[in-house]
Amino acid sequence: MARHEQAGRRTGTGEIRRLWPAERDIFKAHLLRLDATTRRERFGAAVNDAFLESYALTTFGVGGLVYAYIEDGAVRGAAELRGLEDIVARTGEAAFSVERDWRRAGIGETLFRRLITAARNRGIGTLYMTCLPENVAMRRLAQKFEAELVGGYSDVEGTIATGAPTPFTILDEAFDNARGFATLALSLQRKLWRPAFLNRSAPRP
Ligand SMILES: CC(C)(COP(=O)(O)OP(=O)(O)OC[C@H]1O[C@@H](n2cnc3c(N)ncnc32)[C@H](O)[C@@H]1OP(=O)(O)O)[C@@H](O)C(=O)NCCC(=O)NCCS
Repeated sequence: MARHEQAGRRTGTGEIRRLWPAERDIFKAHLLRLDATTRRERFGAAVNDAFLESYALTTFGVGGLVYAYIEDGAVRGAAELRGLEDIVARTGEAAFSVERDWRRAGIGETLFRRLITAARNRGIGTLYMTCLPENVAMRRLAQKFEAELVGGYSDVEGTIATGAPTPFTILDEAFDNARGFATLALSLQRKLWRPAFLNRSAPRP
């Protein structure tokens, strides 16, 4: 069990699952909540709200997928895998963001593990990640997954060998997706039914 589930930091009621295109708005809201330092760490440069809004639009395209930590309907951490459309190179790019108050609770590590499984299952043998040289948290996190880190003055590039898919990794992701999809279906149903229910029970004029 992940530490965020054990320790119950904040409310501890959240879950880590795949995020679907219909949930783009809660992903965008997460990006917009990131403070200036985190934005710089995540994107390697200072980025404004307009950039993040259009970035969120491109995230759920053919070549990408997102895992997220969701608590009370809000995304508090996300891991993105991009580059899946490049079937020749068989490499992908990973990027992470966990909101400040939710850090050091094992969310980043669990997201990383899910991303590696997703990459393996798609035949992506090598994952790349880039971070600023002073980003100790990301460097340590990458090292936990035996990343080979090559550093420059402006950034550090990490290479992670993901391994081949196994029946276990495929089942693992399939169960996870099925659970995540069921949760999404329920919350969409609730959204659709609530106004109808409220209209019915409203006092007649
Ligand atoms: C990097 C980041 C995703 C880590 O998320 P997190 O949920 O806090 O990470 P976890 O709690 O799962 O920590 C996992 C491991 O990462 C390392 N780590 C995380 N935060 C650390 C910190 N502040 N200092 C040193 N090591 C740290 C540790 O090795 C830790 O394992 P441990 O607790 O057993 O020592 C988060 O700090 C973040 O969002 N930073 C801003 C965005 C960013 O830098 N993205 C990377 C570029 S794409």
